[in-house]
Amino acid sequence: MKIFLDTANLESIRKFNDMGLLDGITTNPSLMFKEGGNPKVTMEEITKIIKGDVSLEVVSTEYSGMMEEGKRLRQYGDNVVVKVPMTPDGLKACKSFSSEGIPVNVTLIFSANQALLAAKAGAKYISPFIGRLDDIGQDGMKLIQEIKEIFSNYDFGTQILVASVRHPVHVVDAAKIGADVVTLPPAVLDKMMLHPLTKIGLDNFLADWDKLKSGNPDIKI
Ligand code: G3P
Repeated sequence: MKIFLDTANLESIRKFNDMGLLDGITTNPSLMFKEGGNPKVTMEEITKIIKGDVSLEVVSTEYSGMMEEGKRLRQYGDNVVVKVPMTPDGLKACKSFSSEGIPVNVTLIFSANQALLAAKAGAKYISPFIGRLDDIGQDGMKLIQEIKEIFSNYDFGTQILVASVRHPVHVVDAAKIGADVVTLPPAVLDKMMLHPLTKIGLDNFLADWDKLKSGNPDIKI
């Protein structure tokens, strides 16, 4: 399973990229707003740091505007994936971009039928928002299972990119289902690294080493 970071925060992107954990980045207008500054500079920087796919989202709601914006976004780098909303115009733009060999991420997917249509329109990625479904009392992970089952019956070549991830259990569940990608807020990726027994174990090792050293002060590893 590929791991993308769901952020426009350059510090977090550099931090996890230096650990070799990132296969790509997803952004959206809300994440850009959260970081402030000039989004052009942010998008330039992200596409410089990350070699894998970087989703940058259009804000036009009609086809021709999406096409213009998508082409401008692609100028940031060959690794830019144009992110379009799951609307009729978004699907039309998805079809046009993918026919030209430009990869598309169809976002704001909340049903298996939407996923199916986006795949038919040639999307490279579909982004089902599982946390937002959980928030309204539905089972977001059930949607991932359903889409996985449907896609395994056919040969769309579209990848399931699990979005709106809220906690590490979402990640394990998505991996068990066999989702292609999870896009994670930095806080979730931070939590995935931690286990209390790791910390206790390390503290004990270091305490024992200090005891050993107290009898042999010159010892070094
Ligand atoms: O890419 C954005 C998507 O992951 C939304 O997440 O937390 O705003 O529901 P959230």
